Amino acid sequence: MKVKIERLDDLGRGIAYVNNKITFIKNALPGEIVKIKINKSLKKYNIGEVTKYIETSPNRITPVCKYYNECGGCDLMHLSYKEELSYKQEKVKNILKKYAGIEVNPDIISSDKTLNYRNKITLHYNSNKLGYFKENTNEIIEIDECLVVMNEINEYIKSNNIKEDIIIRENNKKEIVTSIDNNTMTEEINNLKFVVDASSFFQVNHYICSKIFDLLEENIDNSNYCLDLYSGVGTLSIVASKKAHFVYSIEVNPYSHKNALINKKLNNINNIEFILGKVEDKIKDIKENIDLIITDPPRSGMDKTVVNVINKLLPKKIIYISCDPITLARDLKLLDNYKLTKITLLDMFPNTHHIESFCVLDKLKVE
Ligand SMILES: C[S@@+](CC[C@H](N)C(=O)[O-])C[C@H]1O[C@@H](n2cnc3c(N)ncnc32)[C@H](O)[C@@H]1O
Repeated sequence: MKVKIERLDDLGRGIAYVNNKITFIKNALPGEIVKIKINKSLKKYNIGEVTKYIETSPNRITPVCKYYNECGGCDLMHLSYKEELSYKQEKVKNILKKYAGIEVNPDIISSDKTLNYRNKITLHYNSNKLGYFKENTNEIIEIDECLVVMNEINEYIKSNNIKEDIIIRENNKKEIVTSIDNNTMTEEINNLKFVVDASSFFQVNHYICSKIFDLLEENIDNSNYCLDLYSGVGTLSIVASKKAHFVYSIEVNPYSHKNALINKKLNNINNIEFILGKVEDKIKDIKENIDLIITDPPRSGMDKTVVNVINKLLPKKIIYISCDPITLARDLKLLDNYKLTKITLLDMFPNTHHIESFCVLDKLKVE
């Protein structure tokens, strides 16, 4: 059947209506007229697939990756970068309005590169195949390179006969570490040094990571006590420690915690306490009057118990860095003693529907 694509959904899929039922179609852009077949028909929606493009969008470009059709990771590689950025701005604007009742018109910082920007890859090995999992399955898409990861990682994949699951990471000096060798490397961002294990979290795009550090520095006042939640290898705590009297940081991953203790010494810092454990458990032990909370949770956002404790600690300011606008909106709605005063988007993940948000929340004044 022939349909017109109305708009993109939050996952970058085209939306059309078939007999008034919403239908999600991969690799289809607003304004395009396409023939589709329905692959799945559920009560509330259909999943369709394009069988023929009848009229294509002027914003369509040819995906440069040979695995584009099977892999699904770069789900917006068929859209021009300019339009991809506009889509991300519009998407966050709509999500915050819909789920938090907040009206914003966020600026976006684009990535310096749209290819070869990722400093980390996770590959799986099964039935003699090394590659990515096909979307929502355990089926492996065999690959010998990925165009969004940095070059030395691709060289490593090609020149090593890898026969197990692996994480490979590359730093700005083109050094490689892997989860198999279990070694560490030093990342250098904005003149700060960070030791990172292959399996610790580190922002995947060096350029955008540096922009986050800049935004953080610009937006923290000389505060007394700062609390950094989900602190990873200590990156944001270390940036904040320059302006804060003291920083408490909470992180659950023991590898990241171990890296954070080293990073504190490496950068000659004495005013941070890195606490190992779940934020849900450890935040209750914080007894100081906290002026600033920095929070950078995983995609699932903050646990409700954490939001409740934040609402009791009532810092003057919260800086919320998020990689999922939907959980961000959910948490902002619950932080009802605060007003979102600034939001900047950062394109950490070009060619995909994902987007990073940097938000500043100020405590509402009691009348
Ligand atoms: C998005 S990363 C942010 C890391 C760090 N802020 C940075 O910029 O590099 C989220 C971090 O939260 C940690 N994490 C996930 N769930 C947690 C929890 N319940 N309690 C504490 N840390 C958690 C992960 O291990 C990861 O290091």
